Amino acid sequence: MKVGTEHYRSIWYDDAKQVVKIIDQRWLPHEFRVVDLKTRDEFAAAIRDMWVRGAPLIGATAAFAVSEEMKRDPSDKSLNETWEVLDATRPTAINLRWALDEMRETLREVPLKERAEAAHKRALEISDEDVECNRQIGLHGLEIIKKIAATKKPGESVNILTHCNAGWLATVDWGTATSPMYHAVEAGVPVHIWVDETRPRNQGAQLTSWEMDSHGVPHHLIVDNAGGHLMQNGDVDIVIVGTDRTSAHGDVCNKIGTYLKALAAYDNNVPFYVALPSPTIDWTINDGVLEIPIEERHGDEVTKVWGKLDDGSIGQVQISPDGTPGGNPAFDVTPARLVTGLITERGVCEASAEGLAALFPERVLN
Ligand code: MRU
Repeated sequence: MKVGTEHYRSIWYDDAKQVVKIIDQRWLPHEFRVVDLKTRDEFAAAIRDMWVRGAPLIGATAAFAVSEEMKRDPSDKSLNETWEVLDATRPTAINLRWALDEMRETLREVPLKERAEAAHKRALEISDEDVECNRQIGLHGLEIIKKIAATKKPGESVNILTHCNAGWLATVDWGTATSPMYHAVEAGVPVHIWVDETRPRNQGAQLTSWEMDSHGVPHHLIVDNAGGHLMQNGDVDIVIVGTDRTSAHGDVCNKIGTYLKALAAYDNNVPFYVALPSPTIDWTINDGVLEIPIEERHGDEVTKVWGKLDDGSIGQVQISPDGTPGGNPAFDVTPARLVTGLITERGVCEASAEGLAALFPERVLN
């Protein structure tokens, strides 16, 4: 998507400089910083410390980590160690493991001297595939928004609530949940977005708001607790969120707070859709609530908040007493029964084993 007049992806390979570049998201919306990732440790830190984040982007970054490492040392030992180091960075987003498995499988039978080239090619493909998946998700989601628009009074905006950042910054481009929104704007369908701030790290306030603002999408930033009230008052027509891992039965793991939005949507008959590319489906997991590992992050993310300080610098302030520890589960699971539908690159389906199997018949369910 565009930053100013220039088109950017969230990660790319700079052919001239022969280096992987990312947007370092820790500084947005206040500063737009692009950094190079070179070593395995840098890639691992970038994922673990959330310079890049969002399930599809984490996967693409891991793929580039493998390809860069293969240039240095293409041995099986290095390939396996890289898989282990990267896999340990963040536990919930399944796209990470999917991309690492994909890279290892691609390279397994490739002779050592050809590995770097094969790895580079596959990492680029993984990025491009993500962009195309998200474009397709946008087109399928657009149809849902158009149907809602058709039932509203002419000229009225479709009010969409979203949580966290499932935008182009969370993917390689387009975003998952935001792709239908961007496609709606391009198609001239009026939309207005309620952006959940998404405590503790404020991905909504810092990243989704920045995306919406940059692309001229009408939006308001709301506190996480406002969604239920807005739904009760008829001010939300549809909820669209992303996911970090969806079970083979359609349970949806996403940023902490998503489950509460789904409950409120259910109680108020507001359609609740989840947008996801197929690498986000964990076909080995049936019961998402019991089986998906939930990342516990540092308590400081709860007790302190990042922002722009009065002197213009970016820093943290503490918002709780010195002695109060923060508890920080980073994701929750919304059971399939609360999900109206899954928007994938192959179309929209019911959040169920049958729904997913109909769209992805080549997958064997356990
Ligand atoms: O902790 P984060 O910022 O990586 O969490 C991101 C989310 O929860 C997104 O909603 C999810 O990855 C879907 S992104 C297309």
